[in-house]
Amino acid sequence: MLYYSIHLTNISKVHRKVGMAHWCTVFIKFNKVAIQVCGIVGVVSGKNISEKLLNGLSNLEYRGYDSVGMCFLNNGQLNIKKGVGRLEEVNKRINFLKFKGNAGLGHCRWSTHGGVTEKNAHPHTDCNNRISVVHNGIIENYSELKDELAKKGHKFSSQTDTEIIAHLIEDNLKGNAEEAVSAALSRVEGSYALGILFADEPELLIGAKNESPLIVGIGNNENFIASDVPSILSYTNKIIYLEDKEMVVLTKNRHKVIGIDRKEKKKKIHAINWSAEAAKKGGYKHFMLKEIYEQPSAIADTLNERLRNGSVSFEKEFRIPGDYLKSINRIIFVACGTSWHAALTGEFMIEELARIPVEVEYASEFRYRHPILDKKTLVIAISQSGETADTIAALKEAKKYGVQTLSICNVMGSSITRISDGVIYTRAGPEIGVASTKAFTTQLAVLYLLTILLSKIRKTLNEKQVRDMINGIRKVPLQLQSVLEEDKEILKCAELYYSKLNSIYLGRGVNFPIALEGALKLKEVSYVHAEGYPAAEMKHGPIALIDKSMPVVFIAPHDVYTYKKVLGNIEEVKARGGIIIAIATEGDKEIPKKADHTIFIPKNLYTLSSMLAIVPLQLLAYHIADKLGRDIDKPRNLAKSVVVE
Ligand code: M6R
Repeated sequence: MLYYSIHLTNISKVHRKVGMAHWCTVFIKFNKVAIQVCGIVGVVSGKNISEKLLNGLSNLEYRGYDSVGMCFLNNGQLNIKKGVGRLEEVNKRINFLKFKGNAGLGHCRWSTHGGVTEKNAHPHTDCNNRISVVHNGIIENYSELKDELAKKGHKFSSQTDTEIIAHLIEDNLKGNAEEAVSAALSRVEGSYALGILFADEPELLIGAKNESPLIVGIGNNENFIASDVPSILSYTNKIIYLEDKEMVVLTKNRHKVIGIDRKEKKKKIHAINWSAEAAKKGGYKHFMLKEIYEQPSAIADTLNERLRNGSVSFEKEFRIPGDYLKSINRIIFVACGTSWHAALTGEFMIEELARIPVEVEYASEFRYRHPILDKKTLVIAISQSGETADTIAALKEAKKYGVQTLSICNVMGSSITRISDGVIYTRAGPEIGVASTKAFTTQLAVLYLLTILLSKIRKTLNEKQVRDMINGIRKVPLQLQSVLEEDKEILKCAELYYSKLNSIYLGRGVNFPIALEGALKLKEVSYVHAEGYPAAEMKHGPIALIDKSMPVVFIAPHDVYTYKKVLGNIEEVKARGGIIIAIATEGDKEIPKKADHTIFIPKNLYTLSSMLAIVPLQLLAYHIADKLGRDIDKPRNLAKSVVVE
């Protein structure tokens, strides 16, 4: 089983504090704060650490790629090397491997505001270059602290909030590094994951966390801190998850976790059972392609041991009692982006089969809508990362009303899983590509399992229907394998149409969200404009766009209610000269007669067609983006987790 952890900075408090996003932007620009959504890694070791930092950062680049930096602690000196650009480019100029040290820090930065300059790149230091700091997060009271420190004579050399931390520690340093860090952090408001080195403490590495992710790796004659597990997995699989307001004090052979208040904490060391290889590309050209191809196994993992004795059971993290599930009269999903599309398919499944009214909310809208919630409403958050700021805020809003909350999440121990009452993990494993693929299909698998559970508890389906549903999903991993074999036909479509500027995706019922998701994939990775619509809506407007240069992708698997109507829509597009790419059920004789290209998916229950139909659309988006030479795993302007509201 694979679990994966991606967390990014939560800067939501800035917006809450200032009140309005607009004012927040003004505030940030005036004060020239650089807000970072970044990756950090740190190591203290009996051996040279430069290769470990480089390897760690190369796995963290998905978190930020506008500048990088490292600090090497060697012979009582902090040697800092940094530059603007991606790790590969900066490394070409600097050659990080030529530097030596037994302790070090690495940082990759993604700034949402403020200058991308060498000065603003991390690590930052105090006045005398004796303390080095890398940071992921935002210090909200940095302005007051900066004024206070400036009055005391501290000199600043960057525009970042991070530098304040180095000076604040310097200001509190009276011989004991650990005490100085805790005293400094007791003054700090905001989010941080920090790595700190002291020139005068060559054996020491300190980490600290609040609202930004930081894990500790316990190695052999060396210890680590990092933003996520894969970045250090080549060196250790023994991991401690830090909680908010905790610090870790590391030497190469010892580790101690304490609160910012310096109270000692007992922490469990988790043995992580996924391999470092899983976090690498494994021979594929891009992570996105690898992750598309991993879907059969990701879904098999997600189902594993959850289907037993003709029913569904989740692990102890589920924590929502059956009696409560019986009593609810409404479910509200909150999510963003691809996870929101998964929620829409969940709505279809749960209403159709478990007969519970469902609403699907954009997390960003829900939190400001003063929702009407009562004890019979279950709020379900869906998130791959578990760190999406809007989804966290929506969940917190729901909790104010005292309702039960459940999260569907891919990242063990992420913020969303800690906030919600119960959790179901999608076991997609590491998803590095910014465009979600296997996270989405595993979310659909979990929603399907949840639907079975709810239907059983509420007795809306008989034993045979439940059995059919279970048999249906059991077939999916193998069926996906055969969908992946359609890749050649999909590549052909990409080669023919990659230069088109627009496209339309149409589907109905459970496949309407698949149309939205297919269009989103194309937009994200290829930058080609695409829109998803319910197929029948086409005649209410989008039909005006159709001409011979418009590809229209129909998701048209066989179903008893709408298949014939969709055939009609295909005719309408054909009559106007549009290019038709159709996803159809194996054995369909009608669609190939009308469509320019037909991609077949195997027969299964209609509800499950969504899980099969999305895969060709992911591949189509991938191949078009590849033909266009796009930066597929790190598309422009996007981050893996959107931690700003
Ligand atoms: O981590 P989350 O599932 O909460 O992320 C939500 C969206 O930001 C995410 O799905 C986004 O739309 C992806 N780039 C989709 O590929």
